[in-house]
Amino acid sequence: MSLRVAVLISGSGSNLQALLDACGQGEKSGNVNARIVGVLSNRAEAFGLERAKRAGVPTAIVANADFASRAEFDAAMTPIIDAWQPDVVLLAGFMRILTPEFVQHYQDRLLNIHPSLLPAHKGLDTHARAIAAGDSYHGCSVHYVSAELDGGPVVAQARLRIQSGDTAESLAQRVHALEHRLYPQVLSWLAEGRLSCQANQPVFDQQPVSAPQLLT
Ligand code: GRF
Repeated sequence: MSLRVAVLISGSGSNLQALLDACGQGEKSGNVNARIVGVLSNRAEAFGLERAKRAGVPTAIVANADFASRAEFDAAMTPIIDAWQPDVVLLAGFMRILTPEFVQHYQDRLLNIHPSLLPAHKGLDTHARAIAAGDSYHGCSVHYVSAELDGGPVVAQARLRIQSGDTAESLAQRVHALEHRLYPQVLSWLAEGRLSCQANQPVFDQQPVSAPQLLT
C-alpha cells in the first residue's frame, strides 16, 4: 500500500511538482511509494492546480476570500481533504495561517516546508532577512506543523552558504532548488515508515528527533 498524500498550495506549485515527480506521477519516473491523492488551493489561479490536473490528480479550490473568518475557511477545507483519506497532508507554498482546530485535526500528519533554517526567519521575506542579518548559512526546513506559525518540530533541513554576491532573488532560486530535493526526501522517509510523529514528537529510525536530518 502506498502512502496517501494530500497537498495544499497557493501558487506556482514547483514543490508539488517535485513531489509528483518523486511519486512517478509527474514528468519524471520517481520511485517513492506514495501517491498524491488530492491537491487543494486557496487561490483559483494557482498554477499548481494545472500541474495536478496534468498528473491526473483531483483538485479542489477553497477560496479564503469567500469566508468571513479563518475558522470557517478551515472548516470548509477539512471535509474535502478528509474525503481523500490522506495519511499525511503536506503544505507546499500554502500561504494561509491555520487555526489551532485545523492543526489539531491533522496532528502528527501535517507537515510544511519553509524557506529558512528554522528557528531562524519564521514568516515572510526570509531570503532578504537572511542577508540583512549577515547570516553565513541559509536554506530550507521541513517541519511538523504546530499551532505556532512555522514553529513545529523540524525534521529535516538543507543548507547552503550565502555568497558575497547573493541577492534575495539569487538566494530564493538556490533555496528553491534545495526545497525540490528536501521535500521528496522527507516524503520517501514517510513512505518507508522511517519518519513518523506521535503526540507532536517526530520519530526517525525509531529514535525521537532532537535535531533535523541534514540533506547531503
Ligand atoms: C516555497 O519557497 C515554500 O518554501 C514557501 O512558498 C514557496 C512555494 O513555492 N512556503 P512553490 O509554489 O512550491 O513553487
